[in-house]
Amino acid sequence: MRTGTTKLAIVGAGAVGSTMAYAALMRGAARNVALLDIDRKKVDAEVLDLRHGLEFMPQASVEGSDDVAVCADADVVMVTAGAKQRPGQSRLDLAEATIGLMQKILPGLLEVAPNAVYVMVTNPVDIVTYASLKISGLPPHQMMGSGTVLDSSRLRHLVAQRCGVAVQNVHAYIAGEHGDSEIPLWSSATIGGVPLSEWNPLPGRLPLDAEARDVIARDVVRSAYTIIEGKGATNYAIGLAGSRIAEAILGDEDRVMPVSTLLDDFYGIDDVCLSVPSLVGRQGSIERFEVPLSDSEYDGLKTSAETVRAAARRFGY
Ligand code: 2OP
Repeated sequence: MRTGTTKLAIVGAGAVGSTMAYAALMRGAARNVALLDIDRKKVDAEVLDLRHGLEFMPQASVEGSDDVAVCADADVVMVTAGAKQRPGQSRLDLAEATIGLMQKILPGLLEVAPNAVYVMVTNPVDIVTYASLKISGLPPHQMMGSGTVLDSSRLRHLVAQRCGVAVQNVHAYIAGEHGDSEIPLWSSATIGGVPLSEWNPLPGRLPLDAEARDVIARDVVRSAYTIIEGKGATNYAIGLAGSRIAEAILGDEDRVMPVSTLLDDFYGIDDVCLSVPSLVGRQGSIERFEVPLSDSEYDGLKTSAETVRAAARRFGY
């Protein structure tokens, strides 16, 4: 039963959905968390396990079902359900199956939670977000993808580690596709307020020269593949990233996050869902930030847009 004021519904109780529920409960992101999954036994078990930890978390309730009614009146719906990326597969390989699934589940969700902000997490997230926007008919600000929030956090971690500063002091974004064509926005990156281009290594630390930046950028792209090869799926960091997006919406934070949204003349890029730094608050994502881009970043973003758009068109969107 719903108590309090905020409700987060998570569709899919697999590794990502369940971890996201755990992260959201731990962070106190929502007062009510609902899990929906076609596998009743699995969702019941996940909910029971989460309930047994409620004593140790900020005040919250958690429920689950295989009936979409469990998502009724949610403020945020996060969609994690879909085909799992296997070792050797790219995110784009999952498009057909996932779009089919969205066609099936979105109408029911929209009926019970018409005013929710929808956050797509399932891969390939940019194409899924674009297709879901078309399927749902929702205004673009009400539908976003988790995009490169996770990739940006991977980037910040690697920069922080190399430079010997806390990850929270690194401001840097990965933009574009959440996938192989994504690009780091080095030209607007800062560490503790110092532009990266002016960064001098701290005593005993390594420099962040062009070569090091290339290695970091490649590592960010490879991260998911490495984790999938090692343990079959990624779940902790995406669970936290998703729950952080939900928090920004539910708390009406106006937080700048690289979520995937429909671009409308973003430096001339149109009609594709991609990640760029965007304002996230109670209405969803209203504004995109025209961060300064170097020529190569602009070219990279355009190529990424073309890659995602071409893939979406292949599947009829
Ligand atoms: C990730 O980047 C696989 O998209 C997932 O962790």
